[in-house]
Amino acid sequence: ILPKNVKIIEVGPRDGLQNEKRLVEEKEKLNFIHALQDAGIDEMELTSFVSPKWVPQMADAKNIVANSKRIGRQFVLAPNEKGAELAIEAKANSIAVFVGVSNSFNQKNINRTTEESMNALEPVIAKLKNEGIFIRGCISTAFYCPYEGKINKEDVIDLCRRFVTMGVDELSIADTIGMANPLESYELFKLLQVEFADEVLLTAHFHDTRKMALANIFAALQAGIDRFDTSAGGLGGCPFAPGATGNIATEDVVNMLDSMGIETGIDVEKVCEAVEMIAPYVSQPIETGMYRLYKNR
Ligand code: HMG
Ligand code: MG
Repeated sequence: ILPKNVKIIEVGPRDGLQNEKRLVEEKEKLNFIHALQDAGIDEMELTSFVSPKWVPQMADAKNIVANSKRIGRQFVLAPNEKGAELAIEAKANSIAVFVGVSNSFNQKNINRTTEESMNALEPVIAKLKNEGIFIRGCISTAFYCPYEGKINKEDVIDLCRRFVTMGVDELSIADTIGMANPLESYELFKLLQVEFADEVLLTAHFHDTRKMALANIFAALQAGIDRFDTSAGGLGGCPFAPGATGNIATEDVVNMLDSMGIETGIDVEKVCEAVEMIAPYVSQPIETGMYRLYKNR
């Protein structure tokens, strides 16, 4: 049985823009964020407190948090203690920490082994909990790694267990390079659902490199998952995951769910308006099904 309602977590302003070479101005980012909020989105990754040397596009994180409307959960990413401190200073209400199951990927992304990252995050998560901040733990390379290949399900479960023990409120499980197929999606999410659904919120994060993300979402729905990270316009990609393309598009996921009678509270047409706003400022081509229909209407 499929869920009646699904929660969409918009990641466009963060995952969507982080890999964009040309710097998008603060004003354009804020217009994008506010247009997405107007479309009914109330959980969104806004930006990242990461090293501006590593990800120059996110250097304006402080201003983005300060100048965006406070609606629902607005996540900021933090890779380490410094990022968490900056996020607390900025009065972020929700924080996403992230780590790769694959050691090689974590090294490229955070310059630490997975173990080093987890050890460093333990006191950080304790502090954030103390501050009453909602914490999502993002698990990268949960299916495949661009450097190590196929990832063991047991390693994913082990890492998730550590995060849950540390007290995160949500796990977002990512197919970082868009390689998972629907059977793999069903199998992993079924395991995670059985193991963790009583303890934390479970979210699926699919990149659409091989155009299997909608099918993977349908498979995860069948496994009982009702939260999905999506990106308006299908923008996205991690600068440290070679070969990966954008996230599955918000407008295409919402349309698929709408057509199956599953409610999200999000207006597809208004998401397309938000995409139209950001389109002139990104170099990634926007080729999503619903945005193309919107342009040709
Ligand atoms: P490092 O060079 O090892 O850092 O990078 P360090 O601790 O040695 O510090 C070096 C300098 O960076 C120092 O400044 C620090 O203060 C500064 P200096 O003394 O040289 O002037 N620094 C920071 N500045 C701002 N914010 C911070 C911060 N930390 C240190 N938080 C570091 C380590 C983690 C900082 C770096 O590797 C980094 O920023 N990585 C972020 C990479 C990233 O943003 N990746 C994309 C997001 S994850 C993703 O997309 C995956 C996801 O979508 C799920 C999926 O699809 O898989 C979530
Ligand atoms: Mg991602």
